[in-house]
Amino acid sequence: MGKKSILDLHKMKKAGEKATWVTAYDFPMAQFAQDAGIDMILVGDSLGMVTLGYQGTVQVTMEDCISHCQAVKRGASKTFIIGDMPFGAYHESDAQAVYNAVRFLKEANVDAIKLEGGLRVESRIKAISDAGIVVFGHIGLTPQSAGQLGGFKAQGLYVDSARELIEDAIAIEKAGALALLLEAVPPELTEFISNKLSIPVYSIGAGLPCDGQLIICGDMLGMFQAFTPKFVKKYANVAEIITNAFKEYIEDVKTEKFPEDKHVYHIKDSLEDFEKLFDEFK
Ligand code: KIV
Repeated sequence: MGKKSILDLHKMKKAGEKATWVTAYDFPMAQFAQDAGIDMILVGDSLGMVTLGYQGTVQVTMEDCISHCQAVKRGASKTFIIGDMPFGAYHESDAQAVYNAVRFLKEANVDAIKLEGGLRVESRIKAISDAGIVVFGHIGLTPQSAGQLGGFKAQGLYVDSARELIEDAIAIEKAGALALLLEAVPPELTEFISNKLSIPVYSIGAGLPCDGQLIICGDMLGMFQAFTPKFVKKYANVAEIITNAFKEYIEDVKTEKFPEDKHVYHIKDSLEDFEKLFDEFK
């Protein structure tokens, strides 16, 4: 299968074909995702929590994001890759937003960028789109503003907040975004927004009725252990597998079961010659 373009993603929406989307932050995970046939990879600023051990995403820098995007690109050059604009990379001005979005393309060769927010980032989305860059919007639970939201909480559960999200979604499409991610909103709202917009609408914790799903690799693989959001389905328990492997290794080293003969390099000259050599240094 060839690499998807944004046009392919739009065609998939029209055809009712669901798109698959995961996060990845490094070379091996990107390879695994591509080999499995995933449509899109998000190099999310969730890398701050999943791979760098921060409590949230606000400490993540442009340098972190670019370097992780480069690694993912090396691992999945045939997959549509979205770079995530970190907190502070688009908050000052439209010019700053364009500057940093351009960096994602020039330095990491990603296919699109994603940024959080609705009406309040309308001009940023327009400026970046006008620069010829594919923009993904992201509304609902927006982790960069978790402080303002009072934590990592579901959004749009009441009519007033749902209305704001509908207005945000419409503004995002109008500003030129070519896809939208809804996070942690009820499926009724997801379905309405997905039908209302002509761009693909994807869900992370926003239910079924939309154009595809995103999930965080650390969550679905059981690697991220700090907490598990309600919307996560765990497909593996990699943390357990890794910890057990380390434990087995410790036991093998202590009891000299590792390394075995097959794990060592064998001398090519005779043992006598080696013993003579060792004698020289005694
Ligand atoms: O950084 C990320 O992985 C994200 C998801 C939470 C949607 O933005």
